[in-house]
Amino acid sequence: MSLSKETNPMQAQADKGKWIRVVLPMVLLLAVCTAATAYFPKGAKASKPTAPSSLRTNVGLTPTVTATDPGPRPLPANAGSFLGTLSSNEQQIEPSITTEFNRTHDVIVTSPTDGGLGPRFNSNSCASCHAYPAVGGSSPPTNPLFAVYNYNGANNTMPSFITSSGPILEGRFINQPGTTIPDGTVHQLFTITGRSDASGCNISQPDFVTAASQGNLALRQVIPTYGDGLIEVVRNIDITNNMNANLTKKAALGITGHTNNSGNDGSIQRFGWKAQVRSTLLMAANQMNVEMGVTNETFPNEIDQTPGCVLNPVPETVSNFTPGILTEMFPGDAERAEYFMQWMAPPTPGKQNSSTTNGKTQFTNAGCVYCHTTSFTTPATSRPALGNITINLYSDILVHHMGPGLADGLQQGSAGPDEFRTAPLWGIGQRLWFLHDGRTNNIVTAIEDHYSLGNSSYPASEANQSVTNFNNLSPKNQQDLVNFLRSL
Ligand code: HEC
Ligand code: HEC
Repeated sequence: MSLSKETNPMQAQADKGKWIRVVLPMVLLLAVCTAATAYFPKGAKASKPTAPSSLRTNVGLTPTVTATDPGPRPLPANAGSFLGTLSSNEQQIEPSITTEFNRTHDVIVTSPTDGGLGPRFNSNSCASCHAYPAVGGSSPPTNPLFAVYNYNGANNTMPSFITSSGPILEGRFINQPGTTIPDGTVHQLFTITGRSDASGCNISQPDFVTAASQGNLALRQVIPTYGDGLIEVVRNIDITNNMNANLTKKAALGITGHTNNSGNDGSIQRFGWKAQVRSTLLMAANQMNVEMGVTNETFPNEIDQTPGCVLNPVPETVSNFTPGILTEMFPGDAERAEYFMQWMAPPTPGKQNSSTTNGKTQFTNAGCVYCHTTSFTTPATSRPALGNITINLYSDILVHHMGPGLADGLQQGSAGPDEFRTAPLWGIGQRLWFLHDGRTNNIVTAIEDHYSLGNSSYPASEANQSVTNFNNLSPKNQQDLVNFLRSL
């Protein structure tokens, strides 16, 4: 689908009238603030299931929902440990790869594992964003970006969509500013300008205010990395066999879905909100470069090469070839971040009871399970720790049309501007924010927001019948389904 000004609904909306340029950002800001203040302390009830109205246009559904979100299960975390199947050799490098994922990067490289931040960045360590309920996860209750943006003298201003008790979000532009040429890339929130370790660099932050007012800003929240090494090794054929199973039931519900194949080698991509990345190694190297600005062996050039801002030889982290080197410095940072994610065990579900057991049945009855596939089994692998494991991820690893209500206007590979990967639901019981843009902390709202009628740009959501089925469940069955989700 073209991303031209005419077919981009956000753009078209922005063009409708001047009032929308003024009112929409204010409503969005209000919505973000409302969502932010609704963060609930542990054990407390979640806020009422009313999503920000600005984000729920075209929903066309009278909510008949009585279920309430019991809120996230309290800590301790049921996630964040390494796979129990790792060999003793693999276990030996656990401390080194944990250090890597937690490492805070400053600008100047002082050792093969240190430094490299910027010139543009979203944060300064993997663990700052992948933080909750344990290292490797998603946004924590208190937004860590407030400790990062002015650190060491950096003179950044905080974009208004980032709030102190809201989710960590990053921004992509739909079109290149002021044009109708598709962009789609991450525009980092911050720069190193002003930092005491970055003298001579003078660049400005992106203009998020204009982008937001023109409907040109697409926001994404943090995806937890638990169990990613297992998702990575699931066979392509198992994904396509699952896609081709239960076709009559899926057709009755209006569910199709397709893989997002790599344009290069044809393999099925799995990671990111649109399944736009194939492997944990590629994701680690990409995140290191895109989120922190740290160049590495996979992405060896700075994203912004403005003179005065490239302050280290590139790549800034490299493998260390000194004979007899300790595992601490071999291989490079991106590879060690990769191992950390690859070897993280999936989250463990909470205690099951009669309500959650019935909820699981209702999850099937409502048809959720035809996208949120209960499990895959990994094949035998040359790395025994990852092989022959049944993973209850609750995702088909396919992308689906989700309607104008969720569409973000971005094309990634064969995932269209209204398509998203079925979000894995494991660990969701302890999650604080839902959906790709982190628009709600209420799991019931997250379900309702799957519903969206079509418009001139996008077809209706494939999940409409399933959400209608959920709404038509008895109050008890609805609540049991929600309790089941919060037990995951
Ligand atoms: C500024 C916050 C931030 C930082 C820092 C960050 N990430 Fe992420 N991470 C995200 C966001 C946002 C996404 C979703 C990206 C998308 O789909 O466009 C993500 C997605 C991922 C995923 C995909 C998970 C999945 O199952 O789909 C992996 C893996 C990952 N990050 C690893 C890392 C690693 C490794 C680092 C450090 C090198 C890192 N991230 C640093 C914000 C961050
Ligand atoms: C047509 C496929 C499809 C069906 C049917 C479906 N979902 Fe989803 N679900 C998705 C996709 C795609 C996302 C991610 C959407 C986004 O982030 O914009 C998602 C996200 C979610 C999330 C939020 C996950 C997160 O990480 O933020 C929850 C909770 C959820 N679904 C529950 C349900 C329940 C309960 C049902 C049944 C009533 C259901 N889903 C039916 C495809 C589906």
